[in-house]
Amino acid sequence: MVVIAVTGKGGTGKTAIAALLVKFISEKTSNILAVDADPDSNLPDALGVEVEKTLGDVRELFQVTRDSLGTVDKGLWLEGKIFEVIHEFENFDLLVMGRPEGEGCYCFVNNLLRGILKKFMRHYDHVIVDCEAGLEHFSRKTIEGADYIVVVTDTSRKGLKTAKKIKDLVEELNLNFREMFLVGNKIVGDEAKEVIKNFAEEEGFVLLDLLPYDEEVVELDLKGEPIVNLSEDSEFAKRVKLIAEVLTGWGS
Ligand SMILES: Nc1ncnc2c1ncn2[C@@H]1O[C@H](COP(=O)(O)OP(=O)(O)OP(=O)(O)O)[C@@H](O)[C@H]1O
Ligand SMILES: [Mg+2]
Repeated sequence: MVVIAVTGKGGTGKTAIAALLVKFISEKTSNILAVDADPDSNLPDALGVEVEKTLGDVRELFQVTRDSLGTVDKGLWLEGKIFEVIHEFENFDLLVMGRPEGEGCYCFVNNLLRGILKKFMRHYDHVIVDCEAGLEHFSRKTIEGADYIVVVTDTSRKGLKTAKKIKDLVEELNLNFREMFLVGNKIVGDEAKEVIKNFAEEEGFVLLDLLPYDEEVVELDLKGEPIVNLSEDSEFAKRVKLIAEVLTGWGS
């Protein structure tokens, strides 16, 4: 199993990239799980699918049902419910984490869920996680088990600052991962390329690619079509396909 977490500042293109990674990797293997870990869930739209229930719903249901479960094995109960929120599509499965917790103590259910999710994820060859913007995930340790962390940035100062904060935090938390990559997105012009290249070098990131600003992405967005409908000619799509090949080792 290889877990790829896509993270970075808000609006940099995490969901667009995650969705295309799912598309291209699932063309080679259908044994892939896409995880929408952003409470403001966008990945289903980007993949052109609809999802009704989320893991958050299961967690809330558990909280209100717990007392009436009596001697029922809570772990088994949750496992059964998780099957209902792992949505199976033709080429991939999708799990939407959903809203954050409400008030009250969620430690018990969260601990159980963490173990169950780990077990479930082992069934897949690839798990692609579309993270919430910023650092929240790392501090909550939701992507503790990522093999590859892909940090997406545009050329904004804030994008780079967030990338650096993520790197510092990941190191501080001593997270176990194989590699952390930087991907520049919506890059226009040589100057912008230089800025990101220098940043990657200075901060010790492996720079995967500098993805162009792509009008076709904007057009699709305007039409309300999913990003996975990008044409074969789209430079953005072609380059994310190469990233998918690098991350999965097919290209080497
Ligand atoms: N290479 C690109 N060229 C042009 N537009 C792009 C490109 N990549 C992403 N976009 C557009 O930028 C916007 C933000 O993209 P996306 O939703 O993927 O970012 P995000 O990092 O997931 O945002 P959020 O933090 O809100 O989840 C979208 O409107 C998307 O269509
Ligand atoms: Mg997003």
